[in-house]
Formats: sequence, C-alpha cells, structure tokens
Amino acid sequence: MELAEKFNNKSAVVCVIGLGYVGLPTAVSFAEKGFRVIGADKKKQVVDLINRGGCHLKDLNLDERVKKVVQDKKLTATADTAEATRKSDAILIIVPTPVTPDKRPDLVPVISSGEDIAKGLGKNKLVVLESTVYPGVTEDVLNPLLEKSGLKAGVDFGLAHCPERYNPGDSKHSIGDVVRVIGGITPQWGETTKQLYRHIVKDVFLVKDIKTAEAAR
Ligand SMILES: NC(=O)c1ccc[n+]([C@@H]2O[C@H](COP(=O)([O-])OP(=O)(O)OC[C@H]3O[C@@H](n4cnc5c(N)ncnc54)[C@H](O)[C@@H]3O)[C@@H](O)[C@H]2O)c1
Repeated sequence: MELAEKFNNKSAVVCVIGLGYVGLPTAVSFAEKGFRVIGADKKKQVVDLINRGGCHLKDLNLDERVKKVVQDKKLTATADTAEATRKSDAILIIVPTPVTPDKRPDLVPVISSGEDIAKGLGKNKLVVLESTVYPGVTEDVLNPLLEKSGLKAGVDFGLAHCPERYNPGDSKHSIGDVVRVIGGITPQWGETTKQLYRHIVKDVFLVKDIKTAEAAR
C-alpha cells in the first residue's frame, strides 16, 4: 500500500522521537486520531512511566489523555529508537535543540537520533525533523546520517521538515490550532507529509523545499 494511502486510512504506525513538551502532545494527538504511535525517548524512567499510563509533564494537563491512549493500546513507549523506527512508517524527530554556552546550536540530540534511525530505516518510510534548526540541518547534517543505511532520501525513503510552532501549555492554542509549514525533499514527499499532518492540525502550508521550511521557523 502507498504510504499516503496508509496515512489517509490511519493504518500507518507513527514513531515520535523525544517525548517532551512538544513530542508528547504530538504523540497523544496522533494516537487520539486513531494511529498506532510508538514514542521513543532515551530516558528510561519517562518510557516506563508512559507505559504505565502516567505522564511526567504535569503542567501540560495531559494526564487523562495519556492514560486513555495507553489503555487503548494506541500509544506505547520505548528507549530503543532503532527498533521503533523498524516498526514504524513515519518517524518524527522532536528532540531538543538547545544553544550551547558559546551560543552555538547543539545538534547532538538530532545527530544521535539520526544515527539510531539509520539502524532501523527501510524503504518507503518517512522521516520528519520537527526540532527547531537553522537552514541546512535536515539535508546537510541529518540526511547523511540517514543515508548511512544505504538508502537514498527522496528515492527510497521520504524526508521533510515541519517545524513545531506551538507554545506548550497555551490553553487557547493547542497543537491542532497552529498552522504548520512543511517542506519535503521532493514535492511528492512534501505532499505525502501533508497527508499525515492534516490529521492533527487544522491547516498545513506546503512550501517549495526543506530549506524554505527551515527558514520559515
Ligand atoms: N518547548 C517549546 O516551547 C517549543 C516550542 C516550539 C518548538 N520547540 C522545539 O521542539 C523541539 C523539542 O523541544 P521540547 O521542548 O519538546 O524538548 P524537551 O526537552 O521538553 O523534550 C525532549 C525529549 O527528548 C528526549 N531526547 C533527547 N535526546 C534524545 C535522543 N537522542 N533520542 C530520544 N529521545 C531524546 C529527552 O529525554 C526529552 O524527553 C526543540 O527543537 C524545540 O526548539 C519547542
């Protein structure tokens, strides 16, 4: 089955890497829409708590929603990103991108996610970088790590950037209310990515390429 078709009929498995202030509500949003979601986080205590139906981010008012999607077996968590990638159709990277004390972007979490994904990457999967990055990171930093799998972006697997623009904890504007910008490695992969995100946000704005989406943030 075509990946876009799997997104349309919600048979796709979605992996969210990084279950923090942005990743956890994103994982819950997809799970509530009926997708099977695998959350991957390097913190074992976060993984164990979520698998018990608990929520480590108390200020997000997500407790009941996490409990429900875990009970319904729509959300599971793991510390094994490669295995989660292997089992998933779409892999969303939502790890932190802090600034170092000398004011440089710290891309270590993005790089280590890329290395882990490469171990589980397969044909016709889609990788989306949501973390805040400067223009060029998706194609010039992340993609070379993904292509260590022996697969080529745009040909064997999809790659896109969809920056997160919402403000966690803002009760007036949830993830679904904020318009999302998407740029794909090819126009077709951009369109396929849009077919996934349209399930959790009201409006998706497709731009011509990945660097334009990165600059939009
Ligand atoms: N929080 C915000 O207000 C906000 C708003 C918009 C965009 N963003 C962007 O979203 C991204 C995520 O931010 P956040 O606030 O959700 O971060 P966060 O610190 O709340 O959570 C990140 C999670 O990722 C996990 N993690 C780190 N490295 C990992 C790895 N290699 N593999 C698996 N898991 C890993 C951490 O354990 C943590 O649970 C950042 O790029 C940030 O700039 C944040």
